[in-house]
Amino acid sequence: MENIVFPQGFLWGAATAAFQVEGATDVDGRTDSIWDEFCRQPGKVVGGDCGEPAADHYRRFEQDVAMMADLGLKAYRFSIAWPRVRPDGGKVNQAGLDFYKRLVDSLLAHDIAPWPTLYHWDLPQKLEEVGGWANRDTAFRFADYAAATVEALGDRVSTWTTMNEPWCSAFLGYAGGIHAPGRTEPEAAVAAVHHLLLAHGLATDTIRSAQPDAKVGITLNMYPIIPVNPDDPGDIDVARRLDGLQQRIFLDPLLRGEYPADIVEDLEPFGFSAHVKPGDLDIISAPLDMLGVNYYTEHYVSSTPDGDAGPSPWVGVQHASFPPRDAPITDMGWEVRPDGLTTVLLRVHNDYPRLPLYITENGAAFRDDFSGTGAIDDVDRTGFIASHLRAAHTAIEAGVDLRGYFCWSLLDNFEWAEGYAKRFGIVHVDYDTQIRTPKMSARWYSRVAKDNALVAVS
Ligand code: FCB
Repeated sequence: MENIVFPQGFLWGAATAAFQVEGATDVDGRTDSIWDEFCRQPGKVVGGDCGEPAADHYRRFEQDVAMMADLGLKAYRFSIAWPRVRPDGGKVNQAGLDFYKRLVDSLLAHDIAPWPTLYHWDLPQKLEEVGGWANRDTAFRFADYAAATVEALGDRVSTWTTMNEPWCSAFLGYAGGIHAPGRTEPEAAVAAVHHLLLAHGLATDTIRSAQPDAKVGITLNMYPIIPVNPDDPGDIDVARRLDGLQQRIFLDPLLRGEYPADIVEDLEPFGFSAHVKPGDLDIISAPLDMLGVNYYTEHYVSSTPDGDAGPSPWVGVQHASFPPRDAPITDMGWEVRPDGLTTVLLRVHNDYPRLPLYITENGAAFRDDFSGTGAIDDVDRTGFIASHLRAAHTAIEAGVDLRGYFCWSLLDNFEWAEGYAKRFGIVHVDYDTQIRTPKMSARWYSRVAKDNALVAVS
């Protein structure tokens, strides 16, 4: 096997998110998030699944942290639940903060760096009832929540991520309707884009004022968006437009202090620029210490109508399609395209002011063969991670300042609209007994982390 060694100090971790793993949705003062409410609506989540029991991480975090330490992981990316810290978006709830103090203390005791994300999609339902992310005021409520969290944890946490994948929150949640809050209002989605970014900027300022030496970043989901027919002007324009909606509408204001002009024009019929007030872009473009990149696959897009595909998450574009190609696919139906990871890393490196990059999510759902007694030899997942680490290393060799990798996910968990049927964990969770079983991928990844190098899959 090739000798692929990562730079010294490369950070090896694993990721989860509060609603996907914690369970315990009605304890210690937590109130509903938009996902609790979404799950109650018939037909929204496969199997009628909800945030219970998830991986019962709220009660079993000590065991999970010890397991991470055994695996040799050096960082844990988790998210903090806004509805625990400020239930209903209102007063600070000490019991909610205390849970995260215990979690962080346990991580530090095991020499694992805590990497909290403040927002991984669990907006308090009460804030949704007054407009959610379509309401500018939500950005200010987010900054209040960030302030309370940093005040409580700033002495223990040195690296903060404001948000995870605002694209999903805005477009899947408010235009496509397939994520909470399940709205299909393109005008609300474009308002949400700006308010999520404003919330990020306000929270960044809040964190820096409270904790001047903190490192602050944001995580975006990135995909190469490629026209199916590179000679077809319709396909080329759809690719431009979707790349703009997926990537540039976030990267440009964050890293250049401006929205991309072509996308602002595309979104004018939906009232986008009316939401952008004087001074907002200065807040949004506050310098960052790192950018998190989540990578899963590539998108091939065409202007050919898909038939009646339902409400489109792509505001103003009804007919983008993602035709299957000749590539292996995961249990999510996503193509395995490791080269796309090199592409997105190089794109940020080449097109934007340089800053340290971290892969904050990468991984795959596959059907695991688990009899309940034996080991899980998840060769596909192991191979997926190995091929993407190779692609990440290629980017490093090309000069990209990539500093770490977090596999998604540490544990099997609640995969949003797909419920518990899709398993992304490197550790298997039996949802009846809550028994954890590290899969082959976990054992292999552990060796990679300990060696700081790719090792043969065995
Ligand atoms: C990402 C999400 C994460 C997980 C993976 C599979 O978009 O951030 O919570 O669901 O996809």
